Amino acid sequence: MKTAYITGGSKGIGLGVAKTLLSEGMRVAITGRDSVALKQAEEELLKLGTGEVLCIQSDVRDMTAEQNAIQQVVAKWGQLDVVIANAGVGKFASIEDLTVEDWKQVIDINLTGVFHTVKASIPALKDSKGYLITIASLAGTNFFPTASAYNASKFGLVGFTQAVMLDLRKYGIKVSTIMPGSVATYFNGHIPNDADAWKIQPEDIGQMVADLLKMNPRTLPSKIEVRPSMPPSK
Ligand SMILES: NC(=O)c1ccc[n+]([C@@H]2O[C@H](COP(=O)([O-])OP(=O)(O)OC[C@H]3O[C@@H](n4cnc5c(N)ncnc54)[C@H](OP(=O)(O)O)[C@@H]3O)[C@@H](O)[C@H]2O)c1
Repeated sequence: MKTAYITGGSKGIGLGVAKTLLSEGMRVAITGRDSVALKQAEEELLKLGTGEVLCIQSDVRDMTAEQNAIQQVVAKWGQLDVVIANAGVGKFASIEDLTVEDWKQVIDINLTGVFHTVKASIPALKDSKGYLITIASLAGTNFFPTASAYNASKFGLVGFTQAVMLDLRKYGIKVSTIMPGSVATYFNGHIPNDADAWKIQPEDIGQMVADLLKMNPRTLPSKIEVRPSMPPSK
């Protein structure tokens, strides 16, 4: 049975991907910083009744915590086949108002955090000839006002992931980055609601991940943009 590790799996896109991979028959480990949110997510996932779930408190900014988390997955299930480096945050302010703390938080989580997850998972992914997917953003190719920190983190993440793909494919490891537009999640303090119906839903990203995992081994969609097909007109 295949095993997945999803950072930031307690909410939003990560939780949506966890639900889809469980329904596809995989074992799924999720992480996050908040133990209460993790517990709630675990209950929601177990209610699906489709498989095994492991919740691990880990902040992607902490390399040792990421190494320990991945060791836990391999110790429990013997293998790691899929890594979804999804944990991320947004801080939006004009460069004049953006604080040093906000800049550091966004870069440390969205970019260095992914580096930690990737570094920690390479040995297990080499063993399984597995699949690594980073969740970047359309903000990794489109820039906009107030997004200097977020754009920098996601442009960086897209470049990082593409270089990692070239480094790791010789081991039979597949690497892709998914670059979503608006997704109905808790991102940046949002509360998902009925007015979000036009947005991509977290399970749609889950479906995209499941489809990537089923693709013929010879073929690799390495950089995928995905957007709402019918955004409201301004
Ligand atoms: N929503 C969108 O429109 C959208 C569009 C494009 C890309 N994205 C990207 O999608 C990813 C997921 O975001 P989301 O929209 O699903 O937001 P979300 O609903 O706020 O979920 C974020 C998840 O990441 C976790 N997280 C945050 N910081 C973390 C850290 N330092 N260590 C470990 N886990 C951490 C959160 O849990 P804790 O807070 O408990 O740690 C939570 O589980 C992000 O990388 C985001 O940039 C989102």
